[in-house]
Amino acid sequence: MKQDMILILDLGSKENAKIAREVRALGVYSEIHPHDITLAEVQALPNVKGIILNGGPNRVVDGAEIDVSKEIYNCDLPVLLVDHKGDAPWPEDDEVWKQALSNFIFGMCGAEANWNMENFIADQIELIRRQVGDKKVLLALSGGVDSSVVAALLIKAIGKQLTCVHVNHGLLRKGEPEQVVQVFRHEMDANLVYVDAVDRFLDKLAGVADPEQKRKIIGGEFIRVFEEEARKLEGISFLGQGTIYPDIIESGTKTVKAVKSHHNVGGLPEDLDFELVEPLKMLFKDEVRACGKALGLPDNMVYRQPFPGPGLGVRCLGAITRDRLEAVRESDAILREEFAKNGLEGKVWQYFTAIPDIKSVGVRDGKRADEWPVIIRAVNTVDAMTATVEDVPFALLQHITDRITHEVKGVNRVLFDLTPKPTGTIEWE
Ligand code: XMP
Repeated sequence: MKQDMILILDLGSKENAKIAREVRALGVYSEIHPHDITLAEVQALPNVKGIILNGGPNRVVDGAEIDVSKEIYNCDLPVLLVDHKGDAPWPEDDEVWKQALSNFIFGMCGAEANWNMENFIADQIELIRRQVGDKKVLLALSGGVDSSVVAALLIKAIGKQLTCVHVNHGLLRKGEPEQVVQVFRHEMDANLVYVDAVDRFLDKLAGVADPEQKRKIIGGEFIRVFEEEARKLEGISFLGQGTIYPDIIESGTKTVKAVKSHHNVGGLPEDLDFELVEPLKMLFKDEVRACGKALGLPDNMVYRQPFPGPGLGVRCLGAITRDRLEAVRESDAILREEFAKNGLEGKVWQYFTAIPDIKSVGVRDGKRADEWPVIIRAVNTVDAMTATVEDVPFALLQHITDRITHEVKGVNRVLFDLTPKPTGTIEWE
């Protein structure tokens, strides 16, 4: 194994992720593990050079103070205690803390600053091969950042022992299913099962206007389609998952309560008895992107903006019809093309179009015509809990309006949504 590791044991502090990032910023790989890890488990982890314990006010769980085992305190690894009590350094005092952290990692632990993507990938390839052996792995490949990066990594580690399943539910953006086939089947030579489930999803969604009901149908149907494909394949022992570290944080740990349950953690029926392979589960989003880039994935896959699981289904407002779905897909493609051309692609956090289920009168070819409006949304945010509206140049909005109303069938007006979150949400449904 190529990288040294600093272990952070979770005593309930919300600072753990921040400390992990700070250790990595110093060039040393770090992982966070539960407080009740045994010494044998620690010793089974590769190249652990030292342990950081961070307690703080959340250390008391159900009335009892939690702690790591005595055998860990007594083992020969250096331990740094970070707490409100005593003289130990506290991460809020930035300079003192950074110096103390650096002294600990390089001085006491003798770790080397050898954390980089090449070493991470090399180590993960070794770990994946060790875990999987000569068995087979299945992966649901949506084409989003996380599943694409995990696919690329698994292909590098185990090649044709991996089978990727891409379910096209008809709610992806223009060109996305084609790109998944191009990159993974043709360029990376992966086993890729492409499932055209467009009619199946759209039939199930016909006439359903309630957003939550739409989400349930899309999520539920996705699992059913994937499960059917999984049952067709023989001898699969493992399920690859693009779980990343923020998913785990949000789903809660033994000591930190869940913020929300996450779709990547759990989900498939229990009788599909797979062991999980989750090589990205300790990476933050920017590190996942760097990993994808190092594995040779195209920029527009690695740096893509967030896209909701139910896809265009929640942007074709109300009951989905094929013609309005096509209009939202085409207008979204124009918006993305123009944002890319005008240097806004990497600058704006999320931008898309939505189409409401109303028509208004307009003029087309000299005649009155009832057609739909399209809404443009372009927002910036740090955590998606609040958002501000991007100040898109007026001339660009006019140009996009001109293109959408002339190139997209059935659309005669374009509106720009000026509402921050709150009071709006980012999506319209
Ligand atoms: P809202 O609309 O709640 O969106 O302000 C916040 C962020 O979450 C995304 N979003 C979803 N993502 N499944 C997802 O995977 C969903 O059902 C869903 N709804 C909203 C939204 O695109 C934004 O980035």
